[in-house]
Amino acid sequence: MPERLTRAATRNIFYGGSAFFLVVFLALTLQTHFYMTAHSAPATQISEGVARGKRVWERNACIDCHTLLGEGAYFAPELGNVWKRWGGDADPEVARAALAAWMASQPSGVPGRRQMPQFHLTEQEVRDLADFLEFVSKIDTQGWPPNTAG
Ligand code: HEC
Repeated sequence: MPERLTRAATRNIFYGGSAFFLVVFLALTLQTHFYMTAHSAPATQISEGVARGKRVWERNACIDCHTLLGEGAYFAPELGNVWKRWGGDADPEVARAALAAWMASQPSGVPGRRQMPQFHLTEQEVRDLADFLEFVSKIDTQGWPPNTAG
């Protein structure tokens, strides 16, 4: 066995390794794609309201204070699971009413509590936000976050 790698051997390791990991990368990308479309969030659930609600969420930069599925700022509660925490699974109307009441009553003005601004959203915008938060709550996050606190 030669003491040192030959130039040809290093080249083969380089090309062989690159090709091997490219195949692994492509296989994982496909697996992720099919898992997402088949299991995590079926595209059929994205209604007009969900799409509009996402735009309300973006226009008002809710993510500047909140996280959604862990992404965002850590000033205010996680909202990926707020729908479930507010009982939307059992009775969607209860969660809708809770969201409307919440959005209307901010800022709370309670001393010592962090404050959320008043966004002056229309009834339609709040309904769309509810559609969006309901949709997000149904994404299969494989058990994340590990607790249901906001
Ligand atoms: C400037 C920061 C800030 C922004 C921007 C903001 N929020 Fe909040 N939000 C808060 C804070 C702080 C709380 C917690 C207040 C409390 O508990 O009294 C909160 C709480 C909430 C809650 C209740 C969460 C729970 O678990 O009880 C909801 C729902 C909510 N916000 C929705 C929104 C939506 C929708 C937007 C965008 C339209 C938004 N927030 C933008 C600061 C913000």
